[in-house]
Order: sequence, then C-alpha cells, then structure tokens
Amino acid sequence: MTAEIKTLAEPPDAGLIEAVCTVLRAGNLVAIPTETVYGLAADATNGEALARIFQVKGRPRFNPLICHVESQTMAERLGRFEPRARQLAERFWPGPLTLVVPKAAECPVHPLATAGLETIALRMPGGPVRRIISAFGKPLAAPSANLSGRLSPTRADHVAAQLGHAIELILDAGPCEVGLESTIIALEPGRPAILLRPGGLSADEIETALGEPLERSAPDAAIVAPGMMASHYAPKAKLRLQAEDVQSDEALLAFGSALPEGKTMAVRNLSASGDLSEAAVNLFSFLAELDAEGVDKIAVMPIPDTAGTLGEAINDRLRRAALDPDLPEAPDAR
Ligand code: TXA
Ligand code: MG
Repeated sequence: MTAEIKTLAEPPDAGLIEAVCTVLRAGNLVAIPTETVYGLAADATNGEALARIFQVKGRPRFNPLICHVESQTMAERLGRFEPRARQLAERFWPGPLTLVVPKAAECPVHPLATAGLETIALRMPGGPVRRIISAFGKPLAAPSANLSGRLSPTRADHVAAQLGHAIELILDAGPCEVGLESTIIALEPGRPAILLRPGGLSADEIETALGEPLERSAPDAAIVAPGMMASHYAPKAKLRLQAEDVQSDEALLAFGSALPEGKTMAVRNLSASGDLSEAAVNLFSFLAELDAEGVDKIAVMPIPDTAGTLGEAINDRLRRAALDPDLPEAPDAR
C-alpha cells in the first residue's frame, strides 16, 4: 500500500469529507492534521480498526489512545465532566489540551482505546479535521502518526515517511501550528488536577484558568499516563543535551542568538530570538530534517526549563528523545 496524500482545506471539500468517512466506516485508518501533530485516526468504537492502529504503530496495547471529539455534547457522551473539566474545555477547546476524565456510563468507545481503564482521554482538536469528526458522527481515536517511540510528525510528508507503506490516506493541512502534542490533564472529582504530560498548552495558562496549582506527579500509579515511556520521540541520531559547544562530527540544534563557535555538520536554530512557541513549532521538524540528512549526532543547546512554560514540554521531549529507543521501555519516573 502507498498512502495517497490529499489536501484538507478549510472548509474541507464535501466530496473529500464523504470519501474520508467511507474509509473510516470500513474500519480503515486515516492520518489527520491537528494543530499539535498529525494523528493516525480510526473509528473509536470499532475494535478491529483500533487494533490496526496498535499494529501499524507497533504500539503496546496497554497504552491508551486519545479520543477526538467535535463538540462538548459528543465529549459528554464519552466522559463525565465535573465543573473544573467543563471550565477547561470551555476555555481551551478546540486546542492543544487533553482531559482525562472518568468514562461515562454508556460510553460507546471500545475498551482497546482506553486500555481497559475507567478513565478516558478526550480532546477537541483545532483545524479542519473537526468537520470530518462532525460528519462521521463518532469520536476518532488517534495517537500521533509515527512509529511507536519515534518522532511525532508535524507535516504530511513526515507521516508518509514513517507510515506511508501501511495506510491508504493522509490528509494534508500543512505544517502544524503548535508542533508539540497536547498537554494532558487528569481531572477526577475530589482530587487535585494532575499534569500527566506537559505539551502545547503551557501549564501556567491552565493553572491560571483553574485558579489552583496542578500536581506534577500522580499520587497513585493507576492514573499515570501509561504511555509516558522513558524513551520516546527519538530521532535516529544520538542527542547530546545542554551542549555549550559543538564538535565537528555533530549537527547543532541551537536556541537563541549566541551560538557556539566551531565547524558543524549542520545547524538548525529552533528560535534565534529565544521564543519558546517558535521553538516548539520547529522541534520535531528540525529533528526529522537532520535525520533525513543522515546526521549521526546532534548537540542540543540549553533551552530554559522553567516549570509552567512551553520550555517544560520541549525539555520533556528532548530528554525522552536522548534516551536509547532500543532499551526496554520502562514507565517514566516523573
Ligand atoms: O496532540 C496530541 O495529543 C496528539 C494528537 C494526534 O491529538 N496525540 C497524541 O497521542 O499525542 P499519543 O497516543 O501519542 O499520546 C496519548 C497519551 C499517551 O501518553 C497515553 O498514555 C495517554 O495519552 N492517555 C490516553 N488515555 C489515557 C487515560 N485514560 N489515562 C491516562 N493517560 C491516558
Ligand atoms: Mg505519540
């Protein structure tokens, strides 16, 4: 199979929406653009389609998927929203925020998507893909459209390079505006809100909206994001973090205007002006470019790792990317 890449405009072409719904109804997979990263989508109520996601990605089945919704009404058919959850959804959806809430009693999502948990991860994505979910009338389960443990795709051609052989359709809406996966917050009645994964929405903004601090480590193991594997988001090249200098056999992933001297294989500056949103947008695509150029080693300059900012999410991804993906996967300790 070689995936066909089709442009998803805003608003999308009616014929294309229908064609995508036909693929999904048949239990097949479609790569979809969102504002964070590209996702590998299937009908969240169809167990066989979900099994295909795990198979194509090489993803462990205990790692649950995010269900993407088009409206608050659809979200509340799947999960139970306490007032804080509704407040965050109203403030930030559509947007780069995933809410982990208790599953609704009649939730139609197949247990493969939730890995048998009593909670469900929900997100309303930005961009034209919402029109597809709305026409399909059912939630779409979608992990990032990469091989398990590898770089998340922020452009349609990244998806084609990793998964083009295994799926039939990739929808292209251009480069992702945010470039990092959604921030994941767990909200269960009577417990503090927990930051399960830093991401494209800064924790500071969420705390401000909630009016209470986020807890950063889960007090019990049951609601830790099971997919927070230590090694993840890994390029083929080996990363050297917090680099103050660069060697001649390394590429430089820079940040800011004061670059180290020296001969390098290649240079990519995440943001010459030191802007964290710009760095987030560029992170995965620059790593993918350096991989495509066949670079073996990348020196990564320090990026401010201030809790609550996008720097927290960028450094989270870099630390995981620096670990050897061939080591056995272990749950993250954070
Ligand atoms: O921006 C994003 O979130 C992208 C786009 C495509 O929406 N998706 C994405 O999915 O990053 P994925 O599968 O790569 O990451 C989903 C994370 C995993 O770490 C998984 O363990 C966690 O969400 N998760 C899903 N359901 C959960 C649940 N019920 N409880 C805790 N964590 C959950
Ligand atoms: Mg992922």
